Amino acid sequence: MKIISVVGARPEFIQAAPLSRELRKHHQELLVHTGQHYDYLMSQTFFDELRIPAPDYNLEVGSGSHGRQTAEILSRMEEVLLKEKPDLVIVRGDTNSTLAGALAASKLHIPAAHVEAGERSFDRRMPEEINRLVADRLSDLLFCVSHAALGHLAAEGITSGVHWVGDVMLDAMHANRPIAREKSKVLEQLQLVKGAYALVTVHRAANTDDPQRLAKIVSALNAVDETVIFPAHPRTRKALADLGLEFKPHVRLIEPVGYFDMMILEENARLIATDSGGVQREAYFMRVPCLTLRDETEWVETAQAGWNLLVGVEPEQVLAAWRSFTPPADQPPIFGDGNASRKIAGILDAGPVRFAPDGRRNGIITTKEPGVSQ
Ligand code: UD1
Ligand code: UDP
Repeated sequence: MKIISVVGARPEFIQAAPLSRELRKHHQELLVHTGQHYDYLMSQTFFDELRIPAPDYNLEVGSGSHGRQTAEILSRMEEVLLKEKPDLVIVRGDTNSTLAGALAASKLHIPAAHVEAGERSFDRRMPEEINRLVADRLSDLLFCVSHAALGHLAAEGITSGVHWVGDVMLDAMHANRPIAREKSKVLEQLQLVKGAYALVTVHRAANTDDPQRLAKIVSALNAVDETVIFPAHPRTRKALADLGLEFKPHVRLIEPVGYFDMMILEENARLIATDSGGVQREAYFMRVPCLTLRDETEWVETAQAGWNLLVGVEPEQVLAAWRSFTPPADQPPIFGDGNASRKIAGILDAGPVRFAPDGRRNGIITTKEPGVSQ
């Protein structure tokens, strides 16, 4: 098959790496970078470290309002799809690139596959929730990370073309952790002692665009009594500066770090506090206690397993959990065994994805007949 994989934001690059490797064994894959993330530390560093093939197209959309950014990707993606006529478009996650990629494909009657399908926060004020709902509705193949996702899709009537495969981020971690341990010097550079610091990331709109919530996060972090390493997403750095919010010296705000350094910072942290979906999962993979600085999470199974505590942003609540949170000894393998990419590629290897003859959504047929495409 000729497959177009759409990537645009930091977690999508990381997820693309292991899947590209598998897909390219039996298929022709073209990578389209939408340009949603463009700073070196938000984009190119991941291509370099994870040896992701250079994008075949960069749509260079840059930043913008949701409507404008999504529309620009949609319009530029349409041109690429009309030219390349792929058999399948793969989108991942819940970004504006995901939404626009799925929409562009489905408007042109090109089957779409959604990796990380079915996750829900049930909060439609989150831009990501809208992106996921639409991408799932439009996709013909839905690859789920969690078992909870299967239930969410079923509750929305989406049952065909749905596969539980586990998390491609776990594949990425398995492939890169030994290299990170060899190459990363981040602990020395930041003069950190293993297990004697906490790692924090914050970038969700609900936290960065709400001055009160951001001020509460700053106040909670200023009150903890250990070193905090905080690699800041550009939107967070900008919001902090706009509001004049400042950290005490034990909270070290640094530039976003590359994937290798991030893995080393994660695995050696005593505690992780985050509003990131990827970082919540990685904390689980690495068996590091995680506090989620949100009021809900898509990754409910990590919370049910006792490894992730939803603490919101109220300083008293964050501080109480910061001091006392201790996960249990056991950890169920809720995200699979690190072979999600192989499973996805195996499903696609079965043959081209086709629409049902009556054009129904999710009425996909896979066939082993050579040369058959939609
Ligand atoms: C996006 C995703 C979010 C994902 C996150 C991963 C949407 C709606 N949100 O959020 O789900 O968790 O990526 O990191 O798609 N900026 C830069 N340089 C860059 C990229 C962004 O300075 O390379 C700044 C710009 O001021 C921009 C802001 O960050 O306006 C937000 O970027 P954007 O891509 O719109 O959303 P994210 O917050 O990154
Ligand atoms: N990440 C990174 N450097 C950083 C912050 C995050 O490499 O400074 C990685 C992190 O390890 C995870 C992914 O980026 O693999 C998560 O991306 P992000 O938090 O931006 O988005 P989300 O997962 O919330 O969509």
